[in-house]
Formats: sequence, structure tokens, C-alpha cells
Amino acid sequence: MADQYAGTDPGGQPPAPPVLRWEEPPEGPVVVLLDQTRLPAEEVGLVCTDVPALVRAIQTLAVRGAPLLGIAGAYGVALAAARGYDVDDAAAQLAGARPTAVNLGYGVRRALAAHRAAAEQGAAPAQAAEAALSEARRLHREDAEASTAMAARGLGLLDELLPGGSHRVLTHCNTGALVSGGAGTAFAVALAAHRAGRLRRLWVDETRPLLQGARLTAYEAARNGLAYTLLTDNAAGSLFAAGEVDAVLVGADRIAADGSVANKVGTYPLAVLAKYHHVPFVVVAPVTTIDPGTPDGASIEIEQRPGSEVTQLTAQGFAGVAGTAPGAATAVAPLGTQAYNPAFDITPPELVTAIVTEAGVLSPVTAGGIEELCARSRQV
Ligand code: MRU
Repeated sequence: MADQYAGTDPGGQPPAPPVLRWEEPPEGPVVVLLDQTRLPAEEVGLVCTDVPALVRAIQTLAVRGAPLLGIAGAYGVALAAARGYDVDDAAAQLAGARPTAVNLGYGVRRALAAHRAAAEQGAAPAQAAEAALSEARRLHREDAEASTAMAARGLGLLDELLPGGSHRVLTHCNTGALVSGGAGTAFAVALAAHRAGRLRRLWVDETRPLLQGARLTAYEAARNGLAYTLLTDNAAGSLFAAGEVDAVLVGADRIAADGSVANKVGTYPLAVLAKYHHVPFVVVAPVTTIDPGTPDGASIEIEQRPGSEVTQLTAQGFAGVAGTAPGAATAVAPLGTQAYNPAFDITPPELVTAIVTEAGVLSPVTAGGIEELCARSRQV
């Protein structure tokens, strides 16, 4: 089911559509997502009435990005509980929908634990469902607060690293309000720099094959009035060589205990380029993206996605890309061509200048520093 966001605010600016919201119409509670497969062409809501619909939305990337996946997972558990489905089964389906972003399982576990604790204390099913929903709402709020703190800390770090005060920042994938309860991670830092008058340009990698940079980051940059320029992923090298990049800012889907960073495929080559060109490479992520239980980069499961995302220009639902109807696809390789399509890659800690979290900035990135950061955030 889809609903169309419409209207303009009194200032004539289109309001930013909510990325994820909980609604309780008479037919029963629903999770409504801004369908990110339809952006930037259309701002369309996707109404999920049950967990399989939400799992599908996660797998097709209608809802995506590590922190938002955690929030969606938590609301998914609340949805299952409120509609009287088997909550443990729903939690397992949600947590297994995509493997790499650690936040998804984290959000699911938080809502599930709240539901269990209420049930164990003798709460009626409706009250236990309410406990799961409250926990999802709490996670949503916490993520918004984390965004604000990361933006402030990240801007402070940029100013320290680049005293000139007019930053040209390269980013990859999408890390703004579309992935978060707040303004996002890496994009939130760029936005803070823009609002402080210190962002000269945001270089936006298109991010093949699903174009999160072109479709989503450019959409957010345009909405917020940033000076931005889109480039193909493979143009980044020449941009560094021309001396046009002062810093790289990216998000993360999982940070291992040794500081290895899993993020959108194409991040690692940027880190290598940054090292070669002596440009700071900064990862911005909430503490919920750190996974102390994963020892190193090699232990992070990398999601492999269908080859059709590479061999066809317009995958199912990506109407915004070519202006075609959802489902239409144009082959860009001979029929039967096999494609290598990992969704993420791993950047080793020695290539990362700093990790910015809401609890502090880690530089250099070491296993000891990660451990200390996690311990500190538990005290906050
Ligand atoms: O496959 P996606 O679009 O979910 O991948 C998202 C990314 O890799 C983001 O860069 C990452 O989650 C950081 S979002 C703060």
C-alpha cells in the first residue's frame, strides 16, 4: 500500500517527509516508511501492516542505512506484538533480513527484551506490546540525540584537522536524515559545516550500483541548500589528484573490535586514496554501530546482493533513476553475464584517521580505544 506525501509548509518549502513513523489507524497499527527506492522522483509512503512487509522493505532497501535499520527493527517487533503475532519469530525474521549492519539486530533485541521483561512481570499482551513500542520510541529518540552530538563533535574535528575553515568534503553512499532518527551521521557533520558557513563543497559519490549517493545524498544536499557536486565513483581518484578533496566523511554499518569498518562498497578504495593523498579519512557512526563481539574485519559478514543490480540499470522499484515505472529495467550487459555485487567492503583501522561517535572521537583507531569508547558510552 502506498500513500503520497503532499503539501508545502507556510514558507513554500516542501516539508521533509518523515522517514519512518508509527501510526494507529482503526484497522490496526502500522509502520509507515518513506519508500527510499522511489526517491528522488517521488516521496511516497510505504505502509507495512505486518512483519513480512517490513522485512521485504528492508531487503529491497525501501528502508536502509545502519541506524535506521535498528529503529525499523525495533518498531517491527512492536508491530508484531501489537498485532498479536509470534514476537520471537518476528524478531528472528527481522534480525536476519540483512546481515551486515549491526544496528538491525541491536534494535530488534532492545524491543524484544522490553517485551519479554514486561511479559515476565505479568503484563497483559497489550501492555507488553506497549513496552516494546516505548523501547522503539526510546531508540528512535536516542538516535536523534546521537546525530546531534556526532554533528558537533565531527565539525569540531574538521575544524581541528583543516584550520583553513572552508572545507571540501567527499562522501560516499547516504548518511543523512534518511538513515537516522535525526540528521544522520557523516552527512550530519557536512550539514553542520554548511550551517556554520564552513562547507565549501560536498563531493557526492554516486555509489554504484543502487545510487544511494546520486538518488539520496544529492536529494538531501539539495533540500538543505548545500553546495554539492555529484561524481561517478571512479572519478574520485582524479579529484584527489587535482587536490580538490580536504577530507572524506563516511558512515559505517559495523565497526569491529579492532576498529575495522564495514561500510558501503567503494569506501575502502576511498580510504586508500585518502592515505596516498594525505587527506583525513573520517568515519562517523553512533556507538550502536560498534560491535565488540566481532573481533576484526574478516569476521564481518558482507551481504552479497543480486547480480541484476549491476547488469540492469533500473532495478525493481528504482523509478527515480531513469524515470521509468517501478519494475522496468534496462540490461547493460549481455544476457547471462555474472556480476560480483558485495554491498559493503572493509576498511582496516590503519586507514581511518578518526572515528566520530556521540560518546567521543577516537584517533588513532585502536582496539584499546574502541574498548574504552564502548565502556565510556555505557556510563553516559
Ligand atoms: O545498503 P545500504 O544503503 O543500507 O548501505 C548504507 C550504508 O552503507 C551507509 O553508508 C551506512 O549504513 C552508514 S549510514 C549512517
